[in-house]
This record gives sequence, structure tokens and C-alpha cells, in this order.
Amino acid sequence: MFDKLNSRPADSLLALIKVFQADDRPGKIDLGVGVYRDTMGRTPVMRAVKAAEQFLLETQDSKKYLGPEGDLQFVRLLQPIIFGKSPKFTQRLVGIQTPGGSGALRLGAELIQAANPSAKVLLGTPSWPNHAPIFSSARLPVKEYAFVDLMSQQVKFESVVDALSSAREGDVVLLHGCCHNPTGIDFTMEQWRRITELLVTHRLVPFIDLAYQGLGDGLEQDAAPTRMILDVVDEALIAYSCDKNFGLYRERVGALYVMTRNVDDIGKVESNMAALARVNWSMPPDHGAAIVRTILESEEMSAMWHAELEEMCLRVNGNRAALAAASPDLAFISRQRGLFSNLSVSRETAVALRMSHGIYMADSGRMNLAGMQPTDADAIVAALRAEGCL
Ligand code: LMR
Repeated sequence: MFDKLNSRPADSLLALIKVFQADDRPGKIDLGVGVYRDTMGRTPVMRAVKAAEQFLLETQDSKKYLGPEGDLQFVRLLQPIIFGKSPKFTQRLVGIQTPGGSGALRLGAELIQAANPSAKVLLGTPSWPNHAPIFSSARLPVKEYAFVDLMSQQVKFESVVDALSSAREGDVVLLHGCCHNPTGIDFTMEQWRRITELLVTHRLVPFIDLAYQGLGDGLEQDAAPTRMILDVVDEALIAYSCDKNFGLYRERVGALYVMTRNVDDIGKVESNMAALARVNWSMPPDHGAAIVRTILESEEMSAMWHAELEEMCLRVNGNRAALAAASPDLAFISRQRGLFSNLSVSRETAVALRMSHGIYMADSGRMNLAGMQPTDADAIVAALRAEGCL
């Protein structure tokens, strides 16, 4: 039967990891896959994570199964970080541990499909390239609309308003809670307010992807739009990732939270999430979630985590400032947030930047600004000038 399969292209972003590793030019710069790098160019295990691992090594006395919902203490301890101390919707909120933010998106998509198979997912483009395939493979139709004009680096807010205004009741709106991937362009609070009104008026269901909390303007500020929306809508889903803000990438640590209209629906949602997890991955991997739980249970480790996350956030924003200072044409980069900015360049140009200058960005023109040093700014600007991008 396998002879009937067609080969599928490798994910071009993930393929770039190996191409970069194989390049032995000394000045190469990795602006590809979205991982944080420190001033030495390393993606370190965070100090609090090391401390938590040490603690687990010494104290963990069993690795017996926890169940499809994973580590519920991990799920509970994340809640105040995401939703605030005592939000009024706490009673209508239920969560489950998932393998990374991708697992949360997939589980959420399957839950929507089970609850409302006729729902469409509205997706502003460009978006993370895996968003549309995750929803489509859960048999949910994806309706794309233009979110940003890359030439001007501006939100196409009219297009956002049109898309939401013409959606049907019950349709789902995928929103990047902060640090938009791939553009770094977040809505202003004024725009978030308008979006919230539209969600309420048209009875749409927000599905918020929150994968970079703390790497934009800080943990609290980055959660503000999510909290504002949840305060007023009836139902919502939140896919949360600890990959970046805890530096746990390959451990695959995430959670899916669902806010229901009525407290009575919580049990139904909980049992459906558990059943869907069971047929997908049975139970989520424990180690990464146990690390996060251990950190959040300890005042000392929490303080270490907060401090290091703040350092990371400052470093990324420092890199943004360095690029903006190196060329007025890149001034927009300092106004954007999170790991990414997306230049308006062709695939050919992205390849030329790689081949001729050793500057690796995604074929789409997305740059991971956490991958550079401030001292790389001039080389990046010179390469962009040489390829006619500036
Ligand atoms: C990225 O966007 O670079 C990361 O989220 C890694 C991934 O899985 O694509």
C-alpha cells in the first residue's frame, strides 16, 4: 500500500536548521527557526529549569501514568500567569496539558469539530505556516483573510473588520495573543477593543494562540488582550506554549484552556478533551510540565525564571533597536514585538541572502531577531542592501 503514497516536501523552516548547521562559514547568522539565542549564540537551558531538573532528579520517586489530562497542577499554576489572579470567568475555565502549543491547537481544533462541525476558522495571513494545516487536518475549513501588508508593515485593519463582520455565528477566529508569528505586528489596544466588540456582536469564538508570553513587553502586558477578550465573550479557546518562555522547546510543553458559556458545560468539555487526548497521544509527556510546575511551586525558582525571561525580552528588543538604528528603512522593526519580523522579500532573495551572505531567514522573509547579536546589525543591513531589499 505504501507505494500509493506521494512524497511530501519537508517543512522548509525545520529543514533550514540542518542547512545552517552544515554551513561552515564563520560569519553565518541564524535568523531561521524561532528559538531564543543568548549573547554567545546559544539556546541555553534556563537557570530555573536547571534548578527544577536538579530538584526533580533528587525527589521524583515515580514515573507512573498521570492520565490523558497530564499534570493538572501544572495546568492550574499557569492560570494566574495567563488569566490574572482571580478572573471572573474562573468557574467557566477548564484546562488540559498538551504536547506543546501545537498539541493544544490540534486538540482545540478537534474539539471544535466535534462540537460544531460546520464552524469555519478565520485565519489572518500571513500566519504561522502550521496553523492552516492543523485546522484543515482536523476537518475544519479555513477561511483566510489578509491581516498585514508586508510592504508597508501595517495591519490591514479594514480587512480584519470585514472578515469578522461577515463571519457566521459560531465561526472561530484564530488570534495571536501577542508577539505575532511571523510578523511581530500586534494589534493596538484600540484595535483589540474593536475586535472584542466584533466577536461579541457576531457571536464568534476566539481561539487565542499564546506562544510567546513574556517575550514582547512582559508577562502581564502580553496577556492583556487575552484577558480583555475573555472578560466579555461567552466561549473561547486558548492554546498555550511554554516552549519559548521557559526555553523548553523539544520537551513539548503546552496546555489547552477552554472557556465555556455555562459552568454546566465544563464537565462535558473536560471529558471530550480527555477522550481526544487519549486517541491522539494517550497521555502527554511529563518531564517539561513537571519542570514548569516545580518552578511555579517555588518562590525562589519563580523569581529566577521571571528575571531570566525579562533578560531575554530585553535582549530581543535590544536587537530590534540595533537593526532599526542601522537603517532607517528598518525603523519598523523596533515597533514590533516578539521574536519575529517579516520582510517583504521573495523566496529567491531569501535564498540569495543565505547563499551569498550567510544570513539565514525563512523563505517567506521571516527573521528571528533573537538569533542575532546587536553587532550583526550592520552586516545584515549591508546584505539586505546588496540584495536590493533596502
Ligand atoms: C517557529 O515558528 O519557528 C517555531 O514555532 C517552530 C515551529 O515549530 O515552527
